[in-house]
Amino acid sequence: MKLDIIDWTPGGGVRFLDQTRLPREEVYKEVDSIDGMIEAIKLLRVRGAPLIGISAAMGLAAAATRQAAHGGLTAAWFEDAAKRMAAARPTAVNLMWAVNRMRQVAEAAFAMKRTPQAIAEALRVEAQRIWDEDAEMCRAMGEAGAALIEPGATVMTHCNAGALATGGIGTAVAALYAAHQQGKNIRVVSTETRPLRQGARLTAWELSKAGVPVTSIVDSAAASMMAKGEIDVVVTGADRIAANGDVANKIGTYALAVLANAHGVPFYVAAPRSTFDLSLESGADIPIEERAAGEVDAAPGARVFNPAFDVTPADLIAAIVTDRGVVRPPYRENIRRLFD
Ligand code: MRU
Repeated sequence: MKLDIIDWTPGGGVRFLDQTRLPREEVYKEVDSIDGMIEAIKLLRVRGAPLIGISAAMGLAAAATRQAAHGGLTAAWFEDAAKRMAAARPTAVNLMWAVNRMRQVAEAAFAMKRTPQAIAEALRVEAQRIWDEDAEMCRAMGEAGAALIEPGATVMTHCNAGALATGGIGTAVAALYAAHQQGKNIRVVSTETRPLRQGARLTAWELSKAGVPVTSIVDSAAASMMAKGEIDVVVTGADRIAANGDVANKIGTYALAVLANAHGVPFYVAAPRSTFDLSLESGADIPIEERAAGEVDAAPGARVFNPAFDVTPADLIAAIVTDRGVVRPPYRENIRRLFD
């Protein structure tokens, strides 16, 4: 599944598909500044944990290229840019992880007193490496995840953990593409994902384009479908996974995990190693983004609470599919081993 989601412009900027306009319009935007990329990340023009990291890295490289051309690429400028980029959204740790990789490259290049052009080029190479590695991790997760899906299965997924959320074929959705390609004859049920409707707008869009049978449902239809035995397995992505296996993902994921466990449906999470944050003991420590009230269509005068993510406790998760294979409980030990 090859979608044109993000790329470099000939001038060293970044061109990306504006996901806020999907599925009605395929509109591309170009940025070459820190503020331009921060705005795109905050507004969810680019979104999904791995793609946020890739976009931030490419944005830093593009802005550094522009800065080098104007003679203003200094270590202080880069550190301020990196700090601001890392703070664009708080939950997906892939963002901080990618910015830290860029920071290490910049620090080494500044320490070696390389020319501004050479520093900008080193940053571009690292951003491309982050993207390429993510595409490879997606492929590996697809292979590992597809092995968990039986022929003829109906698979529920939430939000968008597909090609639109990554530098490759997705995390959770990678397993669906791989199972489909293996001729397993699967059907996908995509939850709408209120309030920004990533499931209905994005997952249904990319699966349909790829010819994978997909049915969109409103979020509140998940329970009755599971009760009727219409869902064989649930697979979602993740924005951050703590050392004990607790998973932060799009709001509503926890509800699906509780429902799946109540109905004896296996609940799986798929994420690359860049989504794990071993510095956090448990999900209670994961910062949860609260988004603007205006995203929720409520009556004027009502107060709105709009958390963008929730935390699914590890004990509701049957397995975590990673680029290094499938991790099962006990999570603390087995996650630790992933990084040894
Ligand atoms: O707010 P979003 O659209 O960036 O949230 C995305 C999700 O929650 C995805 O499920 C998650 O990032 C996994 S991406 C492969």
